[in-house]
Amino acid sequence: MKDQKKKKSSYISSGESRKITRFNRRVTKKFEKRREDAAKDPALYTTRMKDPNNVVEFDNVRTYFFTDVGVVKAVDGVNFEIPKKSTVGVVGESGCGKSVTSLSLMQLLQRPQGQTVSGEIRFVKDDGSAYNIVNTPNSIMESIRGNDMSMIFQEPMTALNPIFRVGDQIDEVIILHNPDMPKEDVKKRTLEMLDLVGIANKEGVYKMYPHELSGGMRQRICIAIALACSPKIIIADEPTTALDVTIQAQILDLLKNLKDKLNSSIMLITHDLGVVADMADYVVVMYAGRIVEKGTAREIFHNPSHPYTIGLMASKPVVGQKVEKLYNIPGSVPNPVKMPNYCYFRDRCEMRCDKCDGQYPPEIKIGDTHIVSCYRFIDKGEVLDYPKTVEVEDLYNE
Ligand SMILES: Nc1ncnc2c1ncn2[C@@H]1O[C@H](COP(=O)(O)OP(=O)(O)OP(=O)(O)O)[C@@H](O)[C@H]1O
Ligand code: SF4
Ligand SMILES: [Mg+2]
Repeated sequence: MKDQKKKKSSYISSGESRKITRFNRRVTKKFEKRREDAAKDPALYTTRMKDPNNVVEFDNVRTYFFTDVGVVKAVDGVNFEIPKKSTVGVVGESGCGKSVTSLSLMQLLQRPQGQTVSGEIRFVKDDGSAYNIVNTPNSIMESIRGNDMSMIFQEPMTALNPIFRVGDQIDEVIILHNPDMPKEDVKKRTLEMLDLVGIANKEGVYKMYPHELSGGMRQRICIAIALACSPKIIIADEPTTALDVTIQAQILDLLKNLKDKLNSSIMLITHDLGVVADMADYVVVMYAGRIVEKGTAREIFHNPSHPYTIGLMASKPVVGQKVEKLYNIPGSVPNPVKMPNYCYFRDRCEMRCDKCDGQYPPEIKIGDTHIVSCYRFIDKGEVLDYPKTVEVEDLYNE
């Protein structure tokens, strides 16, 4: 009986399903049209950085997916900056919106279902002004991606083309962005890149196909491709998850060394706190599409404040510390189509208090750069904004 009730609550009738489809079509059409119109007018996709020392600024970004079962608010009001020449680690459990945040920045969302419905993503330009990526036309995005922004993917084999030699694949990227460069110089630059990513037999590897290389070598090639054009930002989405542990350590060392040699910033997405502790200058902790805590790596690791961050830390094994059983955070993330009005972590939180039954907690500044969204700190810091979501019904009128 109980089961039947449960089934009923998540069951969508054919009438409801048609209604959702009609709504999705109308809303996505509206957002596509808005993008098309904005793309025609440079004033609508040109803006200014709030702080010229940043490369990227996410300002109240909301990216929603219009699916057959309703609207998934994958990213709902995200604010953070990526300063020049720094590494920002984005952490959180599977499905919390890390990749969608980076895809919104690169404008590689699966459209028309995926739409950034509000907010600004500012990306610095050479002349000091900035693009608002949300409205930037595809033709400009194509030149930004690869030139100013590049990506290191999780699975190096699928990121490389199996039928071309690796040297040719790096050459291609260099030629694409430097069409007038003589052929010999292109090869010279490719060999320099292979050298930079620690490939010893660079002349030999230049002529190899991806399947002839190990996973770690392939990831080095992907990193060489990402660096080939000296981008302003490198987005590394779980760059070591598909590799075995010793190779993981080598790739992380490589990224760490490169970080000091390059002028690029790195947005490092991972659910491995160890990786972040090793590499990041700043850390952003996401939970269910929102940022629950952010600060410098020192603030987050020495003074984790949000119960979710504390739980993540407690579930991380520590070398030299013997524990019977690693901590695991109880419960699971709320249904992304029907997020509650109260703190999204409340139903899993072992520190909740009476205030937690109220609206979603505000951002509270508890240190110069340390911000946390949790009622435990309501009297212990400067209360900033209460986040608001956009109601699904209002999306058409927005
Ligand atoms: N194309 C899509 N269509 C519908 N929903 C999507 C799509 N892509 C992502 N989502 C939803 O958006 C939410 C955030 O997904 P995202 O891929 O950003 O998670 P993540 O934090 O990167 O997780 P992981 O650590 O597993 O990579 C999830 O609820 C996911 O189901
Ligand atoms: S606001 Fe309350 S329920 Fe939410 S994380 Fe903080 S203590 Fe837990
Ligand atoms: Mg992901």
